[in-house]
Amino acid sequence: MIISRLVLKNWKNFKDVDVPLTDRVFIVGPNASGKSNFLDVFRFLRDIAKPGGGLQKAVTDRGGISKIRCLAARTFPDVEIEVHFSETGEKDAIWRYSIGIKQETRGYRQPYLSHEKVWKGDKLILNRPGSEDSKDKERLTQTHLEQINANKEFRDINKYLESVVYLHLLPQLLKHPQSFTGPDLPGDPFGKGFLERISKVNDKTRKAWLKKIEAALKIAVPQFKEFNYTEESGHPHLEAVYEHWRPKAGKQREDQFSDGTLRLIGLLWSLQEGDGLLLLEEPELSLNGEIVSKIPALLFKLQKPKKRQILLTSHSTDLLSDRGISLNEILLLDPTPEGTLVKSAATMPEIKAMLDGGITPGQAILPRTKPKNINQLSLF
Ligand SMILES: Nc1ncnc2c1ncn2[C@@H]1O[C@H](COP(=O)(O)OP(=O)(O)O)[C@@H](O)[C@H]1O
Ligand SMILES: [Mg+2]
Repeated sequence: MIISRLVLKNWKNFKDVDVPLTDRVFIVGPNASGKSNFLDVFRFLRDIAKPGGGLQKAVTDRGGISKIRCLAARTFPDVEIEVHFSETGEKDAIWRYSIGIKQETRGYRQPYLSHEKVWKGDKLILNRPGSEDSKDKERLTQTHLEQINANKEFRDINKYLESVVYLHLLPQLLKHPQSFTGPDLPGDPFGKGFLERISKVNDKTRKAWLKKIEAALKIAVPQFKEFNYTEESGHPHLEAVYEHWRPKAGKQREDQFSDGTLRLIGLLWSLQEGDGLLLLEEPELSLNGEIVSKIPALLFKLQKPKKRQILLTSHSTDLLSDRGISLNEILLLDPTPEGTLVKSAATMPEIKAMLDGGITPGQAILPRTKPKNINQLSLF
């Protein structure tokens, strides 16, 4: 199953969005155009659906409705999210889930639902507010998605959203987790607990996954020879052996790996680890252009057997240089004073014409994401 369509009203810098989504989606746009906010919609739904989560927590964690609601919102103040689910390769939606969120105008100013609806195929199977809700308004502070007793009829949606994974690996956090205090974040998005996660997988699976990563690293990292998992005084470590004229000097631990190597390891591990929707934040960071240009093919290869959906944000012409990327896989974010617009590159005839003329998707699209007055930056 994949999320095949997303409709938004007043979500952060998106006032109005309605876009189709494919198995693999490349989200591109200028700085601060809302790429991360776009991914955050799916994290928000996960935060509602997951055990110990819920609507109230998901909103509070984002600083309240006032932070979520689009600043460009005017007469229609509700925040609305609608997602359609389809089987991979199919067009028709097997499920649709839609919520609207408002804030109490007085008192605790709690967020509450203006609606919650679920369709199974074409049939509306949940339609809130219903009669129970009007008897007890307090009920509207919780979704049915977050309640096991209430979501029995659409558990598939709950399970799907619960398994959404977000990855934005920060190499310094992974290398020196003890230097960064504070509570661990749910889902470990920045890789602070990455080594712990590796240690929790059973030996056989871990070996198999690391073997695959080793094979990729042999191609991507110069002099790279071997890759192992070890434990020392109960602490997990990754160890790489490099070709070196002094054999003993060729061994390195994760804190000596390059940032790019670590990000690649994190990416390859995460691709193998789950089978739910994977959200990747700028996977090109710290990686050499040649390697970056192979990422789309790599994703395709690893997602295919699992029918896994991947949404990623990117700034990189190299990443979009793969001619295997089709235009309906690219969403272009275009910031305007009335909020950011999201367009599928497939709806832009001028881009198609450029591709037909032999230009890569990256060359055709990324110049559009450059700030308009970029040349003036050099005058500082
Ligand atoms: N509720 C909101 N309404 C309008 N704009 C918002 C809202 N919340 C955040 N933003 C804007 O979104 C931008 C950040 O978006 P972000 O997703 O981090 O961008 P990107 O990942 O593309 O660099 C900031 O400019 C911020 O002001
Ligand atoms: Mg961002």
